[in-house]
Amino acid sequence: MNEFRKFIYSTLIAFVLILVVWFGIIFLSACGLNLSCQQAKPIAARTPIPTLAAATLPAIDFSISHPTTARCRIATVDLIGAWVSSGYSDSDVFTFTDVEGTSCQANFADDVQPLFIESNLWYPGSLSCASCHQPDLTTASAQLDLSSYAGMLLGSRRETPEDPGDDIFGAGVWENSLLYDNLFVKRIMPLGRPPDVPAEGPIVFAGVALEPEIPPTETSTE
Ligand code: HEC
Repeated sequence: MNEFRKFIYSTLIAFVLILVVWFGIIFLSACGLNLSCQQAKPIAARTPIPTLAAATLPAIDFSISHPTTARCRIATVDLIGAWVSSGYSDSDVFTFTDVEGTSCQANFADDVQPLFIESNLWYPGSLSCASCHQPDLTTASAQLDLSSYAGMLLGSRRETPEDPGDDIFGAGVWENSLLYDNLFVKRIMPLGRPPDVPAEGPIVFAGVALEPEIPPTETSTE
């Protein structure tokens, strides 16, 4: 029995000694004889590029991040329609109700003209209307100039540069106009238009929301 006890004890002591030696070897190989060893600390995650702006740069101006006016969204058929129905002026503002039901106001130069002179607007890769309907009558498609307000007023199928041709605005009745017919009924403009362009044209940002009318509050008179 004593023999057996001896065997158990010596095995335990041997085991503990092996552990101490084993961890000692690991410690010495990693840290040497240095007790302030940092090796076991987790590696700090660092980006290779400093993300903090240098303090010498001018302070960032955040004042424009809170715009005071909200832009409206509307389908092109309703936008051009509202403009034509309001008398298609190039200077007066006109009003419309946007897709959210908000009352909005817009003008020709900022909101309507881009639809005729900007490319990539009706569908990705679309030409601008004015690239075909341009000022030079000898090359302008349908002898129509959509590059300027004056050109639009002169109309289509013009015989000479000065003489007016066919009115494209239907004399202010949107549904009777050549614009409405070609863009939203026949849907052939912009020429080469793919069939997946929505019937009412793309939804665009236009105009600004009108301030909601604040009902006059009753002021108590004492
Ligand atoms: C790739 C060239 C091209 C582009 C881009 C184009 N058109 Fe046309 N457009 C034509 C041609 C060609 C005709 C004549 C079609 C015909 O005779 O049947 C025409 C005819 C018209 C007409 C009818 C004129 C009339 O008297 O019958 C209108 C209105 C019109 N385009 C408006 C537009 C508008 C608005 C856009 C932009 C959204 C546009 N077009 C973009 C080539 C183009």
